Amino acid sequence: MSNEQTKMWTGRFCEPLDPAFERWQRSIVFDWRLLPDEVAASKAHASALSAAGILTSDELASIRAALDAIAADHSSEAGQALVRDHSTAEDIHHFVELSLTNKLGPLGLKLHTGRSRNEQIAPDLRLYIRRQIDSVISGLISWSEALLAKAEASGETVMPSYTHLQRAEPVLVAHWLLAYVEMLLRDIARLQDVRTRMNFCPLGSGAVAGATLSLDRTLVARELGFSAPTANSIDATSDRDFVLDYLQALTFVGLHASRFAEEITLFATAEFNFVTLPEAFSTGSSAMPQKKNPDLTALIRAKVARINAAAQTVTLILKGLPLAYNKDLQETQEPVFAVDFVPLMLDLLARFTANLGFNYARMTEAAQSGYLNAMAAATYLVHKGLPFRTAHEKIGNAVRYALEKNLELNQLSLEELRTFGPEFGEDFFAAITLEATLDCHSSIGSTSRTRVKSALAETRARIQTIKSDLKQQEASYAGA
Ligand code: ARG
Repeated sequence: MSNEQTKMWTGRFCEPLDPAFERWQRSIVFDWRLLPDEVAASKAHASALSAAGILTSDELASIRAALDAIAADHSSEAGQALVRDHSTAEDIHHFVELSLTNKLGPLGLKLHTGRSRNEQIAPDLRLYIRRQIDSVISGLISWSEALLAKAEASGETVMPSYTHLQRAEPVLVAHWLLAYVEMLLRDIARLQDVRTRMNFCPLGSGAVAGATLSLDRTLVARELGFSAPTANSIDATSDRDFVLDYLQALTFVGLHASRFAEEITLFATAEFNFVTLPEAFSTGSSAMPQKKNPDLTALIRAKVARINAAAQTVTLILKGLPLAYNKDLQETQEPVFAVDFVPLMLDLLARFTANLGFNYARMTEAAQSGYLNAMAAATYLVHKGLPFRTAHEKIGNAVRYALEKNLELNQLSLEELRTFGPEFGEDFFAAITLEATLDCHSSIGSTSRTRVKSALAETRARIQTIKSDLKQQEASYAGA
């Protein structure tokens, strides 16, 4: 191998690199994951070179075929390991150049005409993240559908809602589950926004000032499924906002997953006993034979730490970084790869949710004790003309009295109730049944049975729309 092949920039150097530093500064050990993206971007660049008259159409065909072969040769696990463990390649760009030159001889070296690694890494990382976003979104859809199916299956079953982790008011189990679906639909929209914002092509930006050849950047952008070329070469070669945007969007996903995981962990305790953990997703204890531990939810509760750490890392790398490309930017890659577990995590959550047992009897029982109808009771007095504050006070007094007698509000006699106010009538008891307590919450977004029924249908339709939009989007990329 000639010197110009083993290193990309030895011309102006007299001394060799310190071997430890040489190994330390290489990114091939992690950027091997970008091979399919580097190949796709290189093929598009070759087309632009040919359109600019730098490559003949035969040369273009040879280069594109060789690039495809390089991708195919290294798509298996063993092939990926060959890239990762390559002895001389400095990074994935260098690896592809070396492989191409091995296959094609001097023609392979022609590909690097009119481009710089500073611009190459930018589209590679965008393509990689774009693919990850699509997988995360599809994971979010699966998990949403699993939650929705559980919500539909729960019918009119009730459970307590909590504020301050104290029993608050009864809600439909479906209403509680739909709360999580809302979070996930926001996550999908957020990721779509990130995708739209980042879907511009930096190729043709050169090292910093732009390409030294008149390349057709629109052609390149189109071939790679980007909406358009980026507008400024300095920005394009130094921008990693899209990395942070992605990691921040994933932080929300992690937060939502962790809140669900925590509630399920809590609800699976003997003290709550609202849910039964699927055995396929639980572990035993090597010491205590009776244990079934919620390891899946515990691990998920912790994962958001890693996601947010990745976002923090990129924030700190970018802080105060002068324009344009600096090698610091290489350090933004590993945080991206560190969150590659998210699609699998969402797949596990979807299947865990589908197999989660709901102890409806226990949930209903919990919703029927502890004065969860007190607010509905106060509203009854409001309908009798009392200001809410006064009504609140009177029901508060009634609750205190009932607590002393160890009774629920509906077990008090009308006579007893009237000691708190003359407004109480026989119709009070109908106003504080479980059904009435639910159904008085009848405004948009509330837990009344009719509202939740339509919320279920609307949510199903929203998910359907998201899915068909995605199909269309996919079709438009395939045709790009
Ligand atoms: N491996 C580098 C990165 O990830 C690619 C760009 C290097 N550019 C350079 N001039 N050394 O950022």
